[in-house]
Amino acid sequence: MRNNKLAAAVIGMGEGFRHIKAFKENTTNYSLEALCDIDPERCKKRLEEYQLNPSIRICSDYMEIASDPEIDVVSVTSPDYFHTEQSIVLLESGKHVLCEKPMTLDLDEASAIADCVRKTGKVFMIAHPTRYTPAFILAKKMIARGDIGELFMAETEYAHNYRHVEGANNWRKDKRRDPMLGGGCHAVDFLRWAVDDLIDEAFAYGTKKGLADWPIDFDSYFSLYKFKNGVIGKVMCSIGLSRPYTMRSVFYGTKGTIICDNLSGTLQLSSVPFYDSPEDVTEFISIPVAVNNHNVESQVQLMSDIILRGAVNTADVVEGARTVAACAAAIESAHTGKPVKVRNEF
Ligand SMILES: NC(=O)c1ccc[n+]([C@@H]2O[C@H](COP(=O)([O-])OP(=O)(O)OC[C@H]3O[C@@H](n4cnc5c(N)ncnc54)[C@H](O)[C@@H]3O)[C@@H](O)[C@H]2O)c1
Repeated sequence: MRNNKLAAAVIGMGEGFRHIKAFKENTTNYSLEALCDIDPERCKKRLEEYQLNPSIRICSDYMEIASDPEIDVVSVTSPDYFHTEQSIVLLESGKHVLCEKPMTLDLDEASAIADCVRKTGKVFMIAHPTRYTPAFILAKKMIARGDIGELFMAETEYAHNYRHVEGANNWRKDKRRDPMLGGGCHAVDFLRWAVDDLIDEAFAYGTKKGLADWPIDFDSYFSLYKFKNGVIGKVMCSIGLSRPYTMRSVFYGTKGTIICDNLSGTLQLSSVPFYDSPEDVTEFISIPVAVNNHNVESQVQLMSDIILRGAVNTADVVEGARTVAACAAAIESAHTGKPVKVRNEF
């Protein structure tokens, strides 16, 4: 702790900028103390860009953060391949960890982090941003309170052209970084969170045209999910398409339908009052919503509420692992052509 505030550090200076901003702005709970990147010039750049205190420590080896007894909370925002090793070392060093998605790239690593969290008793949160997106929060609330009757079908998507987002040293352009897990986890996590039930089985098709020169097996997927409560889900994931980035999502209930996405200022609802009318439903009602994609501020606030005030961790290691498992099952199905059972126990 530093002046009764959680001492925070950020590892990885790409997406890490959102974590830097969120820690810096949350002056009630945090004091940002250290930045780490294998390229320390990137830390210096962030220091200047966000006018941070020049006394903030900069380092190129995350072990310096792990071994600093003053640091309480660390955001792991390095490329996916480092999440497992860095999270485990940090947890074992007594740090609380906020880890960027995807939590891991396979189930063994997901189990290893889950075991480590149980062993150390430290807080581990997975940074799935859709859980803090206003339109998606409203959609989940409406589904839960029955505004559209009983939910039976749900579609989510991750549509993001990766042609020019290879990452530092082309880290995304790697066979291990399957798009269904690397990016599709956003849509899968939102689907799981909104439906609020366990997935039983996955079936998927994959194809590759848009990023034909990338060393991945598929750049695009349609994945189907069967939930234990009978809801069927569909996730469209493509990093090889050509259109603006969105996560358009549709929820079908027995008495209404919700259409929403992460970048639009309205959520569309066709709802119960229309259902009882003899007229066909011809229009959606537009409900205004705030736009706050990538709401890391709410994530760091929740992290401090968990650590300091005992709040419930709604994005814990098991949640992260279940999303990895659902993505991994779809990937396996696309390769084998067979339905695949989804693991839920971690
Ligand atoms: N939540 C979201 O919406 C969202 C958006 C983008 C990326 N991400 C995730 O954030 C992570 C980083 O992605 P990015 O877009 O910032 O990539 P990036 O390539 O823009 O930045 C990665 C940074 O990490 C540094 N780095 C590489 N290896 C490192 C290591 N071993 N230790 C410390 N630093 C290291 C690089 O030098 C670079 O500065 C990924 O896991 C990615 O999936 C999440």
